[in-house]
Amino acid sequence: MRHIIESQQFDREFLRELFAEATRLEHAPEQSLRGKILASLFYEPSTRTRLSFESAMQRLGGMVLSTENAAEFSSAVKGETLEDTVRVVGHYADTIALRHYDAAAAAAAAAVAPVPVLNAGSGTGQHPTQALLDVYTIERELGGIDGITVAMVGDLRHGRTVRSLAYLLGKYSGVRICFISPEGLRVGDDIKEYLDRHGVPYAETERLDQGLKVADVLYQTRIQKERFENPSQYELFKGVYQIDRTMVRLMKQGSILMHPLPRVDEILPEVDALPQAVYFKQAQYGVLVRMALLKWVLEK
Ligand code: NCD
Repeated sequence: MRHIIESQQFDREFLRELFAEATRLEHAPEQSLRGKILASLFYEPSTRTRLSFESAMQRLGGMVLSTENAAEFSSAVKGETLEDTVRVVGHYADTIALRHYDAAAAAAAAAVAPVPVLNAGSGTGQHPTQALLDVYTIERELGGIDGITVAMVGDLRHGRTVRSLAYLLGKYSGVRICFISPEGLRVGDDIKEYLDRHGVPYAETERLDQGLKVADVLYQTRIQKERFENPSQYELFKGVYQIDRTMVRLMKQGSILMHPLPRVDEILPEVDALPQAVYFKQAQYGVLVRMALLKWVLEK
């Protein structure tokens, strides 16, 4: 069965075919998933990921069953395990998009699910479909991934999109990564070990200005307020990197500014109209990538 659990599972050939299919679907609408059902089982808040999966499914002629607040309104409240829920929902739907607060949830669900599981974000673990749409965005906007420098900014300790993106970029050649965060929010050692093993050079710094000038992609992220043990810790980091128009002018010629969204105050709205700002387009590309993914998991 074709589950989507973590970025490490993909290879270049898969990515090439997936992205080609996403672009093809943009120009050639089709109803190839008619009669199929996607269940979205979301135990954590979401706007884009859930709705873009659901939009992707419906655009391909499929149908959707949706729980947007499974942590409060599903039988989890009565004490049901995730495994039991997934076993049952797998008989109501042909595939399950799962968002959960536990980093191990997607793998645990896939182990028992009778249908493909799509990891739509698992705690501080991974968010592989976001990474796929991030890389697709870079390819569409810059024409390729090999040889680029990517600066990842913000809460690299808790941010799952950064983690999945770093793993995925490790598949390409000549990529350099610059991790920019305060000392207390540095990226995990598992990521650094993976990059070392794959020969991907990276640097770590607290200074945003160092990344601004060299990056082809500036990937800004939200400080993950909900992941801090207490509010005073969050207050320490709140607003630490704010990108304004002046900073965007310092960015390398031809570079782009990305963000998985939602943003709070880390990119000022005055930046939105600048040509470097591609974060809303990024969300749009997400529907195409999820269409291609749904086709792929339901093909077999
Ligand atoms: C991200 C997430 O949920 O990890 N959002 C998303 O899916 N686009 C990023 C975030 O919440 O900061």
